[in-house]
Amino acid sequence: MGTWDGVGDKVNGISVVPPIIGNSPTLRRLADLARRFAGTSHPILLVGETGTGKEVFARNIHAWSRRRGRLVDLNCGAFPAELIEGLLFGTRRGSYTGAVDSRGLVAAAQGGTLFLDELHCLPVAGQVKLLRLLETGEVQRLGDQRPRRVRFRLVAAVQEDIGALIASGDFRRDLFQRIAGYVLELPSLAERPEDLMLLAGHFAEREGRELHPACDRVLRQQTWSGNVRELKFAIQRAAVLAEGELITPVVLAKSLAIMPAALGMRRLVFPPDLDVLEACEAHRWHAQRAAAGLGISRITLWRRLQALGLSARAAKKQSRIVSSVA
Ligand SMILES: Nc1ncnc2c1ncn2[C@@H]1O[C@H](COP(=O)(O)OP(=O)(O)OP(=O)(O)O)[C@@H](O)[C@H]1O
Ligand SMILES: [Mg+2]
Repeated sequence: MGTWDGVGDKVNGISVVPPIIGNSPTLRRLADLARRFAGTSHPILLVGETGTGKEVFARNIHAWSRRRGRLVDLNCGAFPAELIEGLLFGTRRGSYTGAVDSRGLVAAAQGGTLFLDELHCLPVAGQVKLLRLLETGEVQRLGDQRPRRVRFRLVAAVQEDIGALIASGDFRRDLFQRIAGYVLELPSLAERPEDLMLLAGHFAEREGRELHPACDRVLRQQTWSGNVRELKFAIQRAAVLAEGELITPVVLAKSLAIMPAALGMRRLVFPPDLDVLEACEAHRWHAQRAAAGLGISRITLWRRLQALGLSARAAKKQSRIVSSVA
């Protein structure tokens, strides 16, 4: 089993909580920890590179917590500094020019979960207020002296270099200490290559496609600096490029070759390699015929396939398995 399904948030009986896919020991351990943490009322801190699944975990934590209230989320990086405090803590009409009466997102999360994404983007004044809220359990709208009691669970996500922001004074150490008691550090995809095929297969299935087993080797050659999000897009593109239901290594390689080099992603499958893969597929992985088709020796073909992490013999065998299953 490599999937943990959230239990709450159902629409028409269907769970809207995205499943956490992965079977690597690191991910299993994290999902188990997350489930245990979810049952408490402590703040939970998610740390990880972009695309590692911080939002997926936040949604599952809310579901596992079985709280009656809603999951309210706010991306602190998506709003201008002067608006964010009002959004979060609420405002009273007249507290500043144009301010209206609003209860704020903290109050909306009453009995539920408040997910603050990119918390490191919250201005320092807001950080001080958030810390006070966590200590006292009371929220004060802007322009309103009356404190109101509120009960919610905080889940916060920060980027992995939070230490540097604390050192530079951009993120308050006291707030960090208050929320870092229950921290989940999400691993990059490169740290768990054994999950690549499982994730890729899941994304392919959602596009109505199936992955050729030889795709595993091609996936393992990639660096995946954009983590699971990058993998998801690569598979979605491959589904568009695929002629039939099957995503072959050639189709996958083509999809990976489209990836923008400008983003600094290391591409291991360059367009010149595609002719090798295409010839192999055209000749059903018969090495001698593929080499002859390309006008190269079998040794050269073998070397070029090896550089891609592939072997004609293994791919041929796997193709037979796939076609016998189909
Ligand atoms: N373990 C996982 N299982 C299934 N899907 C995942 C998993 N991790 C990430 N994803 C998918 O990858 C994409 C990125 O995940 P998510 O938005 O949770 O990442 P993030 O850490 O919040 O990224 P960012 O820092 O860029 O906001 C989403 O489409 C999500 O569904
Ligand atoms: Mg996110």
